[in-house]
Amino acid sequence: MANLNQNHERGQWGSKLGFILAASGSAVGLGNLVKFPAMAGLNGGGAFVLVYFIILFLVGFTLMLAEIALGRYTGLNPIGAYRKISKKWSWVGGLGVLAGFMILSYYSVIGGWVIKYLVKSVTGGLNVSDPGMLGDAFGAFITSPGEPIFYHGIFMLITMIIVIKGIGGGIEKSTKLMMPALFVMIFLIAVRAMTLPGASAGIRYLLVPDFAKITPGVILAALGQVFFSLSLGMGAMITYGSYLDKKTNIPQSSTIIPLIDTGVALLAGLAVLPAVFAYNLDPNAGIGIIFNSFPAIFSQLPMGGLFSLIFFVLVLFAAVSSSISLLEVCVSYVVDEWKVKRLVATSVIGVALFLIGSAASLSLGAWSDFKILGLGIFDFLDYGSANVLLPLGGLLLCIVVGWFWGTDNAIKEATNNGEVEFKLAGAWIVLVKYIGPVAIAAVFIQKIMELLG
Ligand code: PFF
Repeated sequence: MANLNQNHERGQWGSKLGFILAASGSAVGLGNLVKFPAMAGLNGGGAFVLVYFIILFLVGFTLMLAEIALGRYTGLNPIGAYRKISKKWSWVGGLGVLAGFMILSYYSVIGGWVIKYLVKSVTGGLNVSDPGMLGDAFGAFITSPGEPIFYHGIFMLITMIIVIKGIGGGIEKSTKLMMPALFVMIFLIAVRAMTLPGASAGIRYLLVPDFAKITPGVILAALGQVFFSLSLGMGAMITYGSYLDKKTNIPQSSTIIPLIDTGVALLAGLAVLPAVFAYNLDPNAGIGIIFNSFPAIFSQLPMGGLFSLIFFVLVLFAAVSSSISLLEVCVSYVVDEWKVKRLVATSVIGVALFLIGSAASLSLGAWSDFKILGLGIFDFLDYGSANVLLPLGGLLLCIVVGWFWGTDNAIKEATNNGEVEFKLAGAWIVLVKYIGPVAIAAVFIQKIMELLG
């Protein structure tokens, strides 16, 4: 049965697998391949991974189900969806659309860096075994005024073309191609890294928790990462849920998507940390790990150039399958609410994103003196969206779904009026009404203080 509010510009997923791949495509992104290994490196390895898992099961699954159910019930973009619950909540959806816009503007700049490094691995420019030299080249590139903006433009254009083609013909079709390829590639890279001599120290670091390292800071870092990685708190899953038919099993989908996301994050950790340990590099190098440490390692391996290439194609696929969901959130709002054609909405939003992203890119170099609340444009967009708007959106989602829409209504939607099984319904109610809001409030307050302090 089609959604009541279905119109021609909206569209619908062609199959259940298509939805699962598109939603996991949204979740699996730079957050898994770059942020997760880097954060595990920074926050005590196994300790971080253990806490991440606990939060994932408590909060990740809970919010995933809440967002998808709310999206399918309303058949609308985040603003329309919240408004349908009650007029006074539509601003919560507005915060989500704003978060999506902010994240995509700088996400696309990083996506551009990935394209540049993909080109570099083809032309042999990464054939350098000294991570220090690669680091200098990376620093010079991202702070330069022209090239990063050019590549950011290309990344944005790819994202726009897919979104213009719509739900079935663009997002679903492209993620059906990219995601299986991504799974194979990450597996290849992880196996290669884990079989390097000396890799076991990295595997141990990632998987064996040292309980003494579980501090409040580690817990809060893991909570923030769960949000970003699962694309929660801004209505991306509300939007994707709004294109679902009424037969899809929501409790099952809400379990599979976080599992896929976490599987890829773990594989990324198993690819990056063993390699970094095997070559005595710094596990705390942050984003530098993928642009500098990793290529330096590959350059010393037989067929290293090929592995570098596979690695950057993989990161690009992950980034694009996420960026299309970020853009879709903004486009669905304009298409639903302003009754504008998808092509026009995507083009106008895409150009605006290109301009703001260009400013973000310049803020790493020529415009580095310009500050908003003490942060450069790039960092402001990142902190303000990922660390403030997403947790706030998640908190409000729990409140609206748990206390206003009502858990009975939500469960009715999620189980297709009782047709599919939802064994954990009782636990879900406690999580969405009490545990979720309290846990998120803790991270949110900490992030706000960080921003102000
Ligand atoms: N989940 C994506 C990642 O891990 O890179 C980022 C993201 C996509 C966040 C979509 C939020 C979102 F709505």
